Amino acid sequence: MIRRVPRARAPAVRAVFVEGEAMLYIGIDLGTSAAKLLLMDEEGKIKNIVSREYPLEFPRPGWSQQNPEDWRRAVLEGIPELLSGYDARSVAGIGAGGQMHGLVVLDDEDRVIRPAILWNDGRTAREVDYLNGVVGKDRLSRLTANIAFAGFTAPKLLWMRENEPELFGRIRRIMLPKDYINYILTGEHCTDFSDASGTLLLDVEHRRWSREMLELCSVREEQMPRLLESYEAVGTLLPEAAERLGLSPEVRVAAGAGDNAAAAVGTGTVGEGGCNISLGTSGTIFISSRRFGVDPNNALHSFAHADGGYHLMGCMLSAASCNKWWQKEIAGTGDYQGEQDKILPDRLGRNHVYFLPYLMGERSPINDTNARGTFLGLTMDTSRADMTQAVLEGVAFAIRDSFEVARGLGLDIRSSKICGGGAKSRLWKQMLADILNIQLESVASEQGPGLGGAMLAMVACGAYQTVEDACGRIVRVTGTIRPDPETAARYEARYQDFRKIYPACRELFSQLAEQEEK
Ligand code: XUL
Repeated sequence: MIRRVPRARAPAVRAVFVEGEAMLYIGIDLGTSAAKLLLMDEEGKIKNIVSREYPLEFPRPGWSQQNPEDWRRAVLEGIPELLSGYDARSVAGIGAGGQMHGLVVLDDEDRVIRPAILWNDGRTAREVDYLNGVVGKDRLSRLTANIAFAGFTAPKLLWMRENEPELFGRIRRIMLPKDYINYILTGEHCTDFSDASGTLLLDVEHRRWSREMLELCSVREEQMPRLLESYEAVGTLLPEAAERLGLSPEVRVAAGAGDNAAAAVGTGTVGEGGCNISLGTSGTIFISSRRFGVDPNNALHSFAHADGGYHLMGCMLSAASCNKWWQKEIAGTGDYQGEQDKILPDRLGRNHVYFLPYLMGERSPINDTNARGTFLGLTMDTSRADMTQAVLEGVAFAIRDSFEVARGLGLDIRSSKICGGGAKSRLWKQMLADILNIQLESVASEQGPGLGGAMLAMVACGAYQTVEDACGRIVRVTGTIRPDPETAARYEARYQDFRKIYPACRELFSQLAEQEEK
C-alpha cells in the first residue's frame, strides 16, 4: 500500500536558537569502531572533530558485541575535548546518529545487563529461521514491513530469552545504542522511528510499536522506549551531565536517528527519490521517499526516515571493514593510500581475482549468516595489488547486488550521494561509479551520521523548521564522479561473473558453518 505523509515539521517548542547569535551544535556518530563527534555552526561549518575508538569483541565466529560503558565514556570524555577552545555557552543542541539494531538492556537500577549484541552479530540464525519460517515472512511483513535478519533486535531478544533466561527476566528497559547515550544525557527513555524500524518490533507504516511483535518476544510496551521523530527533542541535559560536559542544562538533545538515516540527512538525501551510499564499517544503499512502500521480497529493508518520511535500504555487513581487515590484519600496513596507488588505472575492470566480502556473513540481499569471505581466481602472477583491488571491487559488486534489487522494483537511480570512511578514496568511488554505472556526488564532509545528527539537533532547537530546510541550507555537493563508459562495460562483464560465485559456494558455506558449531 502507498500512503502520502505530510511534510514533516518540528513540534512547536520554544526555540533555543536565537536569531542573530551564532549557535553551535554537536553531532555524534556512535559507530562500530569509534564515536566521532563534530561541532558545527548553523550554516553547516564544521569547527572541530574528535574521534574516540573503542573495542569490538568477537567472542565466537560471527558474534559481535560491545560494552555500552565504552560508548558512554567515549562521548562523555570526547565532548569536553571537542569543545576545547570554543565557547561552550554557544552550544544549543546535541544530536546523534547511531549504529542500528544493537540490543542494549538495562535492569531496575539502570545497570547494563550484558554487552550489547550488535547489528553485525550472526548468533540468531535459529531465531531468524523461527521468525521467517514459523511466524512467517508474510505476517512479519504485514506487522513490521520487514522480515527477520540476524542483526535485527527482535531475534536477539528471542535468543536472550532462550539462552540467558535469568538475564532476560531482569530486563527493565530495552534500547538502541544511541538511545543509551541520550538516556545518559537526559534521563529520558526514548527512541526515534528510523532506529526503531530496525528492531522488527515497530509497525513502520503507522509509526507505533507492534503489540503482536512485542508479545511474540515476551516484551511489554513499558520496557520499550517512547517513540519520537528524529528531529524532536528528547529533553534537555540532566544537571549532572551538563556539569560534567561543561554545557548549559538548557542544551536540547534531539531524538537523533539510526546512522544510515542520519547520514542521509547529512548528505541531503531527504524527500522523494534521493539516494545515498555509505561506505562505512557496513555498506548501505539508502533510497528516500515521502511515501511508505515495501519491497515485495523484503530483500531491501523498509524503514522510517529521519525527515518524517520513509526509505528503502540494502545493507551489507562488511564494507570498509573488509579493506581495513585486508590492509591491517593481512597486509600489515596502515598505508591505505599507498596500497591503492599500486592499482594502475588500466587494471580497472581487468582483475582476474574476485573477493566475496562476507567476513561477518551477509545481510542484503542474500540474508545468509553462514556466508564467508572468499578469494577466487588466484594464480602465480597474482600480486598484492590485485588482491587489494579485488577487495575494493568485491565490496562494490556486493553493493551492486542491492542496487539490482532496487532496479528490479522499478527505481531508476542515475545518481547517488556517497559518504563514510571509504568515500575518502577517489579510486574506490570511481570503481563504484563504474560498477553501478551511475554518477556519485560527494558533499563537503564524509562524516554523514555526525553531520546529520547535528542537523537534527538544529531542527529540534528551532534553527530550521524542517529537516529538508536544514539540508537545503547546509548540504553542498563538492565533487562529482562520473562512470567511464569503457570501464563500466568491462565491469559489467565481471559483475556477471561475480554474481555466480556465491550461489556456487552457498551449500559449502552452510556445511562449514555446521562443522564450526560442533
Ligand atoms: C543498517 C545496519 C548498519 C549499522 C552500522 O541496517 O545494520 O548500517 O547501522 O552502524
